[in-house]
Amino acid sequence: MTKRAETGSAGGAGHDLDAVLAEERELMNFYAPQYRASQFFNSYYYQQERLHFVDWVLATVRAAGRDPKTLAFLDVGSGTGEILEPLAGAGCANLTGIDIAEKMIAESKRHVPGARFVHDSIERHDFGEQRFDVITSCLTVHHMCDPAAFFRFADRHLAPGGWFFLMEYNRGGWGIDSPLAKLIQWVMTPLRRAIKIKNREALSRAPALPARFNHAHDLLRFGDILGAMPDRDAYEIVRYTRGVFVPPLTNALVAESRADRAVYRVLRAVDRLAEPLQAGYMQGVGARLIRSD
Ligand SMILES: C[S@@+](CC[C@H](N)C(=O)[O-])C[C@H]1O[C@@H](n2cnc3c(N)ncnc32)[C@H](O)[C@@H]1O
Repeated sequence: MTKRAETGSAGGAGHDLDAVLAEERELMNFYAPQYRASQFFNSYYYQQERLHFVDWVLATVRAAGRDPKTLAFLDVGSGTGEILEPLAGAGCANLTGIDIAEKMIAESKRHVPGARFVHDSIERHDFGEQRFDVITSCLTVHHMCDPAAFFRFADRHLAPGGWFFLMEYNRGGWGIDSPLAKLIQWVMTPLRRAIKIKNREALSRAPALPARFNHAHDLLRFGDILGAMPDRDAYEIVRYTRGVFVPPLTNALVAESRADRAVYRVLRAVDRLAEPLQAGYMQGVGARLIRSD
């Protein structure tokens, strides 16, 4: 168990920023050319989670009476455009991405040609007086040397009444670091094996990338996220968690199989029963800046 998980505070844990950024950049440049072809990073499960996240962002903003098409969006750790692409598809036109890996930026320019991209880290980049209505970040904050840097960045660059939205693994969920995690894996193993055998041809076409992470990489509990916000009272916070039995099938289900999509729908229905307990493997955290003084 890491220091952060013990204390519930995400405070940098003594990592060297230059070293973490250099390592992250090297790893993400390595992944970038095959990121979209990977059965892990671009698995059916991850695709569905990202689409749900984007729908939730858009619905939250609309419920507050704002038209997303008129808003300025910034995606932090924009990767190959996984979040900006569906935002563009929903008609959002003022889109910016920032990413430390130039090969990720090169890929994203192909997938989201209308967006502006900045090649830098959020720790180092100065957006000056620029403000964004919505700052999103998907599966990135837990890669940061000090996750609190994201929340300081949001405090500086959110327009009054603006939002940040994160999609992150939920370290407090049943599938991670919990006594139930092994049981869930065990229950799902026969189904995962059977689906992988059925899909062996499709899966063999996808590159098997090694799972490598920078040395500061550390999953977050909801309490870590709240503890890392320097000005938590300035925000109105909402949250969801999703996924108990679907996540173990990440490397097995393929989008083109009707049977896999049916399995996904059935297991999603089961997962929904546990989600009121905040048990999900993935969490979405949204925060609206309600005070700006
Ligand atoms: C796991 S990938 C997630 C990419 C994409 N958001 C997605 O949904 O798949 C993390 C991304 O964040 C970028 N990144 C990590 N730390 C960063 C930082 N401090 N500033 C800017 N980008 C960062 C990496 O280069 C990488 O593209």
